[in-house]
Amino acid sequence: MSLDDLYREVILDHYRSPRNKRHIDSGGIDVHRNNPLCGDDITVYVVVDATGVATDAAFEGQGCSISQASASMLTEQIRGKKVDEIEGIVLNFRKMMAGEEGPGEEELGDLVALKGVVKYPVRIKCAVLAWDALQEGISQYEKAH
Ligand code: FES
Repeated sequence: MSLDDLYREVILDHYRSPRNKRHIDSGGIDVHRNNPLCGDDITVYVVVDATGVATDAAFEGQGCSISQASASMLTEQIRGKKVDEIEGIVLNFRKMMAGEEGPGEEELGDLVALKGVVKYPVRIKCAVLAWDALQEGISQYEKAH
């Protein structure tokens, strides 16, 4: 199996069996975003405890395989991390989506499967949709704390 096939399998697995796809009354981060190009939407929820750790993360929404898989992977990758670590993950993910190679990819887990999306600029919006929501949620959280 080629690396591209493996990545495709990982994306389809997250799309068909999304992790943490459920509503949370987070009382913390709760941000909805939509992709104006197609109308698909995602809401990201993150529960942050008093020590700044994301104790739970989930999403809801509908959209293409890339947007849904990316959101599923996002929730897996940030659970249990501190908000400042999450900001680092967001930065590394965005670097990867900008086609930059380099440090930080090992922190991205299954998300490296989305690397190939860089070759299809119109799909980058799909891959970053959940991340735009997360980043906005982090900004709101930081303003409030
Ligand atoms: Fe709508 Fe991908 S086509 S988010």
